[in-house]
Amino acid sequence: MRIIRAKDYADMSRKAANIIRAQVTMKPDSVLGLATGGSPEGIYKELVAAYNNGDVDFSEITSINLDEYKGMPRENEQSYWYFMHDHFFNHVNVRPQKINVPDGTNLNSEEECARYDQLIEAKGGIDLQLLGIGFDGHIGFNEPADTFTLGTHCVDLEESTIEANKRYFEKKEDVPRQAYTMGIKAIMQAKKVVMVVSGSGKADIVRQAFFGPVTPQVPASILQMHPDFTLIGDEEAFSKI
Ligand code: PGA
Repeated sequence: MRIIRAKDYADMSRKAANIIRAQVTMKPDSVLGLATGGSPEGIYKELVAAYNNGDVDFSEITSINLDEYKGMPRENEQSYWYFMHDHFFNHVNVRPQKINVPDGTNLNSEEECARYDQLIEAKGGIDLQLLGIGFDGHIGFNEPADTFTLGTHCVDLEESTIEANKRYFEKKEDVPRQAYTMGIKAIMQAKKVVMVVSGSGKADIVRQAFFGPVTPQVPASILQMHPDFTLIGDEEAFSKI
């Protein structure tokens, strides 16, 4: 595990964006595992700026997103499909046919999860996986559980996740209760994993996940065993390590 200390959110975003830029420069047809949420927003801003400066070319990448709310149509502003287009895809030259997000509107979980796992395998796995961490230690929507779930699966969201995500919705009742998420296998098989953490609210879970035991009760803790895992955090998120 490599730890990179950043001053603040902006510095963290720049450092992570630099790693992604280097990845795409070295391997233009990289498969990028992408994440949504407040943590990576700044990274997408940096990458869009780099693209506008002619510093990076996304025309050959394939993107595979981590998760999507079950039942959520793409055009809904709260969907992760929408988030990714709004923050990143609409502003760079990624090819639309190379964008992959779980299809929330396929209510047949078994079918959709099998499709997504086959897709990841067909692309040869992920070159660089970007992650945030939930307050409960989730990665993607792999919530605390008795075992690690390997494949893409449908999860019931934890109360703390619904609480954290309600900021994007008009009211808490509108937050979907279920989501499709890539499983632990695809994340752990990614050649490189980069996680960004920011703010004092994440300080406890950072300590538990990366300085405590590896346990499915703190799903991110499995990353301690990844051979190329980089954790980039700001001073507040690292205040307890
Ligand atoms: P956040 O979410 O970046 O919005 O804090 C992280 C996560 O839930 O994985």
